[in-house]
Amino acid sequence: MEDRPRDERALRIREGSPTDHEFVVALGTEAFARFGDYGPIMEAFLASPDVVSMIAEEGGVPIGFALVDLPPALPAFADLVAIAVAPDRRGAGIGRALLAHVIAERAARGVPSLIVLTVADDNRPAIRLFRSAGFEAVPGSEGRYAAGQTSRRMARAVMP
Ligand SMILES: CC(C)(COP(=O)(O)OP(=O)(O)OC[C@H]1O[C@@H](n2cnc3c(N)ncnc32)[C@H](O)[C@@H]1OP(=O)(O)O)[C@@H](O)C(=O)NCCC(=O)NCCS
Repeated sequence: MEDRPRDERALRIREGSPTDHEFVVALGTEAFARFGDYGPIMEAFLASPDVVSMIAEEGGVPIGFALVDLPPALPAFADLVAIAVAPDRRGAGIGRALLAHVIAERAARGVPSLIVLTVADDNRPAIRLFRSAGFEAVPGSEGRYAAGQTSRRMARAVMP
């Protein structure tokens, strides 16, 4: 076993950089494959100047990400466009930690804001996570993924 200090192996959430691009596209393409071809969609998110990425890593190894679209014209609005954890690391609190980080970042801005997201109606793990973090379904927001799954928007206000 490696003899590294405990804190080096601890979960860390940091801002993404271009060196994370390959990881984010690969995990997003796999994690969202059942909703459609997400390779180009992930590429488009990462190419947008409005999308910030947060990376969860352990021991320097990336294991999850959150992508948040922050349109400059709407400073009180954040769209969590993607969140995913590596399949072999799910169920260990990493998704919750990423989401808490997104929420804390908005709260730190010092003004009230709204976080929105889209989730498939059959995505039970994600819906449970979002509900437990204070998100509620937005009435009348029903939609559909490219592969046919019905979806809805969820939202939560964040107070400083
Ligand atoms: C959704 C996702 C990001 C959750 O990440 P995770 O690290 O596995 O989640 P956590 O371990 O932090 O769990 C947080 C909560 O999610 C819910 N949850 C997680 N896995 C679950 C499962 N298999 N079944 C039901 N609920 C589950 C629970 O409410 C859990 O809280 P609890 O452990 O206190 O019960 C992960 O499942 C994932 O990457 N899924 C594929 C991509 C995806 O669908 N993203 C969301 C698109 S909107």
